[in-house]
Amino acid sequence: MDSKDNLPTPCAGIRIGDMAPNFSARSTLGPIELADYRDRWVILFSHPADFTPVCTTEFVAMAQEAAAFEERNCALIGLSVDSLFSHFAWLRAIRDRFGVEVRFPLVEDPSMAIGHAFGMLAPGDSDSATVRSLFFIDPRGVVRATTCYPANVGRSISEMLRTLDALQAVDRDDRLAPANWQKGGPLLHPVPTSLDEVYGAEAGGGWFLREEG
Ligand code: BEZ
Repeated sequence: MDSKDNLPTPCAGIRIGDMAPNFSARSTLGPIELADYRDRWVILFSHPADFTPVCTTEFVAMAQEAAAFEERNCALIGLSVDSLFSHFAWLRAIRDRFGVEVRFPLVEDPSMAIGHAFGMLAPGDSDSATVRSLFFIDPRGVVRATTCYPANVGRSISEMLRTLDALQAVDRDDRLAPANWQKGGPLLHPVPTSLDEVYGAEAGGGWFLREEG
């Protein structure tokens, strides 16, 4: 056996700056097409399987923060290989047990066609249980950030919101978001692109790291 065979499935394929591949699919809100979400931000995320503990906590937490994503003009789209009827049963079980309604679409991807198009699975990989990928897609359909977590660690909803806030803020003002940036905090000026800019910027402090304001 090649040593590569023991490595976990990488999240590869789609990279930052790529156009998100369009898809049409059945979802818990009826048929959807990704292209219909142009002019909105989209967070497309996959989960390994319905009726699993970590995935359930993620869906409860995301549904509880649905208004925060709406406020940011961001649609959530979940996806797994499970059938639409499995999705219905799981979301109903979540409502019954936690009193939380998941009102964003959960897409079925039984052939893994969407998963493969986004590089959520390695070519030839038949084990969907490795997949916990997430894509931030901007209103032009461009992938702006991705994350990839293993099946046994749930994602942070507050980090999803922070990343979304940061992407929107840097776009608005042509700025950079520093480490641990939070909404409303100071952004950084873009990097200089000429020596004149370097010398001009020196008056206001360090030329390679300048906070706004
Ligand atoms: C979970 O979401 O809890 C889970 C999913 C797949 C494998 C193991 C755990």
